[in-house]
Amino acid sequence: MLRARGGEWWRGLRRCASLPRALRVREALRVPEPVERVKVQGWVRSVRSQKEVLFLHVNDGSSLESLQIVADPSLENRDLTFGSAVEVQGKLVKSPHKMQNMELKAETIRVVGPCNALDNGYVHIHTPIITSNDCEGAGELFQIGVSNEAKDSAEKTHFFNVPAFLTVSGQLHLEVMAGAFTHVFTFGPTFRAENSQSRRHLAEFYMVEAELSFTESLQDIMQVMEDLLKTVTSTVLSKCPRDVELFQKYIAPAQKGRLEQMLKNKFVTISYSEAMEILKQASQAFTFKPEWGCDLQTEHEKYLVEHCGEVPVFVINYPYDLKPFYMRDNEDGPQHTVAAVDLLVPGVGELCGGSLREERLPFLESRLQRLGLTDTYQWYLDLRKFGSVPHGGFGMGFERYLQYILGVDNIKDVIPFPRFSHSCLL
Ligand code: 4AD
Ligand code: MG
Repeated sequence: MLRARGGEWWRGLRRCASLPRALRVREALRVPEPVERVKVQGWVRSVRSQKEVLFLHVNDGSSLESLQIVADPSLENRDLTFGSAVEVQGKLVKSPHKMQNMELKAETIRVVGPCNALDNGYVHIHTPIITSNDCEGAGELFQIGVSNEAKDSAEKTHFFNVPAFLTVSGQLHLEVMAGAFTHVFTFGPTFRAENSQSRRHLAEFYMVEAELSFTESLQDIMQVMEDLLKTVTSTVLSKCPRDVELFQKYIAPAQKGRLEQMLKNKFVTISYSEAMEILKQASQAFTFKPEWGCDLQTEHEKYLVEHCGEVPVFVINYPYDLKPFYMRDNEDGPQHTVAAVDLLVPGVGELCGGSLREERLPFLESRLQRLGLTDTYQWYLDLRKFGSVPHGGFGMGFERYLQYILGVDNIKDVIPFPRFSHSCLL
């Protein structure tokens, strides 16, 4: 396109100096001479803030290369973040570093569209609902197929060539994207064929999940969980006080004080082994006898939360054999654990589950081999093969969260169309 205009296309820019001209990034990069007043629109690819100067990289999809924006640090604001859409006006000058390129000295930067991300830079990823993976490895999958498959001449073949399921978690897909965007989250429906009609299980529920790259400690993940719970709860309390009051008046009068306590105090942390000791010393008789190596049952979770003073409790470092293949080996013993964390809350029990992920190829290879899953998860192994970083994340059940803050006893009462075993009305 540039050549078609005989290489003189940019001269027109200088003639109408009163109106800033909107240039595509591809054009702006290649203007051969400085131009006084131009405008570039695009998405922020990076922000580097220094004492004397603010650097941005902006791309509008017209070029693989981004345009460097050089600005006064006073132009920075909290909406100016990775992914936000901006309109930058200023002067195009030769870049001192890349002589073949121009850079834009910004006079104004206007954020025209906030980033589709949480305040602190998490990029929202739409993870798929149809998947060929069983992320949690529990076999609680709904398999999908074409309804008239039997009539189809190509019967017996899968629509996708492989068995496909409704997702139980977006985590594995988030891990892929965290390798590019560092901090990512998803919020979508998840499905589990758990044969349970308990007051906290649904076959279809929503989950918010976050994944963080460059994270080596479980404490980092727990801090994000705690911040998420506190921030969302105080937002709900301040933005929908009348709805919350209604529940506090008629459903759970004690809830107000509980939430205020939760917001004020740091959450408690205990290890799984400590939790087992507490349970073993309990005077209460449990239906399921607490033993190291066994899963925590609802009655155990309830007792632990009471024991810790009716506040949210992180339980960390679960037995290796109890948890899915992706959790990071703590390499301890004789009681072998993984870097897993569950958050237990009053009235509900487990609200969030998370872990550090096993980023070390040999560990993951041998675990998948023992489970006979090497072929299925070859792509997941490849993520480690080609330069993985320590990372981790968690998921929080949305309906359980509503149960918790509103004090609703049964999960089926916080969702308009509950789906659970033997019930799929409407
Ligand atoms: O503990 P879970 O199984 O963790 C995962 O799926 C991880 N892959 C998440 C991650 O690390 N990205 O599930 C997370 C949360 C639970 O703590 C619970 O709140 C909720 O999802 N949940 C359910 N909610 C309602 N009905 C069910 N059947 C649920 N199963 C899990
Ligand atoms: Mg769990």
